[in-house]
Amino acid sequence: MEFPIGVLVSGRGSNLEAILLHIKEGKLNVEVVAVISDNEDARALKIAEEYGVDGYYIPCIEKKTALVGEAERKYIELFQKKGVKLVVLAGFMRILKKDFLTAFKGRIINIHPALLPSFKGLNAQKQAFEYGVKISGCTVHFIDEGVDTGPIILQEPVPVFDDDSVDTLSRRILKHEHEIYSRAIQLFSEGRLKIEDRRVRIIAGSTEEERS
Ligand code: GRF
Repeated sequence: MEFPIGVLVSGRGSNLEAILLHIKEGKLNVEVVAVISDNEDARALKIAEEYGVDGYYIPCIEKKTALVGEAERKYIELFQKKGVKLVVLAGFMRILKKDFLTAFKGRIINIHPALLPSFKGLNAQKQAFEYGVKISGCTVHFIDEGVDTGPIILQEPVPVFDDDSVDTLSRRILKHEHEIYSRAIQLFSEGRLKIEDRRVRIIAGSTEEERS
């Protein structure tokens, strides 16, 4: 079996879709063994189904903004049962708490639609746009106890043009999200990410192309 990953989603699922497409095209050598959504109506669940991947809706009634209690226990158990080695957050709208973080320590990553540490939290593209930055982008990072504060794995800059709207900028950023997320997942699965303090070192690959 390829390297098993679990994906957490809440909504649209375009990042999940890009991951599944890259796997199908042979550009990403991992297997999505489970997709869990806290939202029954998430388009992401339909995408999982389309790709023949096991999708689960597991509600969390205790809290709106964090994964806690009974639901947290179920998420952990399901991923452990499936042998998940990397948890990929793809538009998951809840903060992960201690039990989940401990169960998958150093093995949870997220994609954020801005260049961290700028514009943490929700509506990052809008925050960046309204601030007036000329360059924004996206960031793949490890998850720690904070919100969007974990060690940075990859970042991609994206220009902001004079005639942009939040919408056009968000779409441009999203295209890059779809590329760097798969790249980061591949690097993790190859054991090529080393966290030193809070710097993530990428260990060089073996091919000429990867070294250049
Ligand atoms: C993306 O913009 C991602 O950066 C952020 O949430 C959004 C999820 O979009 N964390 P999708 O569900 O993957 O389409």
